[in-house]
Amino acid sequence: MPELKDLLVEQLQDLLNAENQIVGALPKMVEAAHNAKLKEIFGKHLTQTENQVKRLELSLKTLGESTDSRPCKGMKGLLEEGQETIADGEDLDDLTADLALIAAAQKVEHYEISGYGTARCLANQIGEGEVAILLTHTLGEEEASDFLLTATAQPLLQQAVSTEMGNGTKAPWGEPGEIPTNLHKSAKDSAADATSHGKETPAKFKKAKA
Ligand SMILES: [Fe+2]
Repeated sequence: MPELKDLLVEQLQDLLNAENQIVGALPKMVEAAHNAKLKEIFGKHLTQTENQVKRLELSLKTLGESTDSRPCKGMKGLLEEGQETIADGEDLDDLTADLALIAAAQKVEHYEISGYGTARCLANQIGEGEVAILLTHTLGEEEASDFLLTATAQPLLQQAVSTEMGNGTKAPWGEPGEIPTNLHKSAKDSAADATSHGKETPAKFKKAKA
């Protein structure tokens, strides 16, 4: 299966370039974050990412291939957006700036989760178990980082909502459980349909009588 092996090597070389770009970007994320927990997450992920680079190099060597990387345009774009997020955050309050940083970081994590998931599947399919194990290790770290970012965002988001409510400014998404009034009519109707209990079930969804 030389074609599949070539495809795997391409994926790994692309991920290697992506990870090296992330190593360059994370110190700026650490510096830009206001929340101490968020700074810590970015800092720890920098160390993890350096190890992920080593795992990719080891994977390529295990396959007998070059550890040259291929320019990853996808990650370049995501990190350029991340840089804009950092710059824009200077004009925002700390909470909103941190939430924007988390949003940018999770886009990066999801890109990586997608890349490692595909590469691991390819490695398994062509019987490269040793490489698949290395990729599984990194994939687990990326998923854990994504989970941590979600967990960190939740209290920040609640705090941001409380702040807005406290200022007498209604949050654009309304009170908890309320259907926002600024939704497009069709979206509002769909939300109402989804929350209306006891409403007649449309005929097409009714179970046919025996
Ligand atoms: Fe990574």
